[in-house]
Amino acid sequence: MRPRDGCEDADARSRGGVTIETAAPLTLTGASQILRPPQNGLTRLAGNRAGELTLEPGDLTLADGVIVGFEPDAGSVRVRCDGCAIVPGFVDAHTHLPFVGWRAEEYAMKLGGVPYEEIARAGGGIRSTARSFARATDEAVLSQSRELADEMLRHGTTTFEGKSGYGLSMDGELRALALGDALADQVLQRTVSTALLAHAVPDGLSASEWMDQVAGVVGRVVAETSARALDIFVEAIAFDHDALRRMGTLARDHGLALRTHVEQLSTMGSVPVAIGAGARSVDHLACMPVEDVAALAEADCAAVLLPGAEFIGDEHLPPARALIDAGAICVLASDLNPGTSPVTSLPLIIGLAARRYRWTIREALLAVTLNAAWVLECSDVVGSLEPGKRADVVLLDGPVEQIPYRFGHNPVAAVIVGGRPAWIRPDQAWRFASLPPAQREAGGR
Ligand code: NIG
Ligand code: FE
Repeated sequence: MRPRDGCEDADARSRGGVTIETAAPLTLTGASQILRPPQNGLTRLAGNRAGELTLEPGDLTLADGVIVGFEPDAGSVRVRCDGCAIVPGFVDAHTHLPFVGWRAEEYAMKLGGVPYEEIARAGGGIRSTARSFARATDEAVLSQSRELADEMLRHGTTTFEGKSGYGLSMDGELRALALGDALADQVLQRTVSTALLAHAVPDGLSASEWMDQVAGVVGRVVAETSARALDIFVEAIAFDHDALRRMGTLARDHGLALRTHVEQLSTMGSVPVAIGAGARSVDHLACMPVEDVAALAEADCAAVLLPGAEFIGDEHLPPARALIDAGAICVLASDLNPGTSPVTSLPLIIGLAARRYRWTIREALLAVTLNAAWVLECSDVVGSLEPGKRADVVLLDGPVEQIPYRFGHNPVAAVIVGGRPAWIRPDQAWRFASLPPAQREAGGR
């Protein structure tokens, strides 16, 4: 059984558990902005407190893979950060990795006015990717997924969640989860695995027959994979509230978290049901009625908003401003998948949220850092810049206000994972000139 307490550690994994040589302490000096929480030790922060995040100039020192503090260290290697902002490594709390293939032809149909539900009912959508997944070799799935994880890294993502869901049989789901665990061994990021065991109802089965099979396999999911959450797609074309309640019971009985895809394409009133079923997050919410905002803000359940899917699918917009103002735990994620959101870049997602939700940059940054880490149950380790937390740090090539404004530009100058440069944009290499060459080369992926 794989470790289940906290996020997977890429350093230990990628080197086969052999203790790696400690990188030299680094001080990132002279940044114009460093994003910090209002106090240390917060596990999450209500959206209406995002204005308390500070963005002061300064230095940041990292050693032994963790954040040491905000003073330069006498013996450390200096990284010149003039003109830069320093933010925590981004946490993408909702992706559908691993998957294989794309569905550009469906996007062309959508642009021509065919709705997602119609494409799905005709055998496209999730079923189409499930067919590609069944046909592909393990290496083909891993190779595409690794490339996407690398692309995410270059856009600042240092922790991501991935889901099963394209298996469409119990063996297929277990294969997807095993491939997710294999992917975790092959990427630099920390990863968290979710078993999306109710994604689409396969032909020839009723939803309740499928849920019977799910109930029979959760024990194996727990024993054989690192998945720490169950997930379900609640929609007229997928599963109903009975299945949602049943998934909540299965999650509770097996000590797993419950994640949910709700209110994406139509209003079903699923938010109170998901909260009642013990959900840690309600994701999508494009069709969520504003009357449900107060209950969600009261609950210990995050609103995970996916503006990439909303944009690509020309979906409705969630009551995103109201959720922030009511004090909900608000999260932004990519929803990276081949159908509704072929998007890897959280800076792009921040740009969409700023414009379409009218969120401030602090609100958006909180939603891709601390609150996103809370959904993944690892905000004690990542998600904010504070002493003792893992040294996952992103250097931006300008002030944070430029992330939404320079829409489409990748603002990420460098990414540090566990205290080591994991990606340095070639035009920013001069900032790292005093780094020993071996450490600089570590970033040359
Ligand atoms: O999050 N809504 C359901 N699941 C995915 C879409 C998956 C697909 O179309 O392949 C989503 O949007
Ligand atoms: Fe999704």
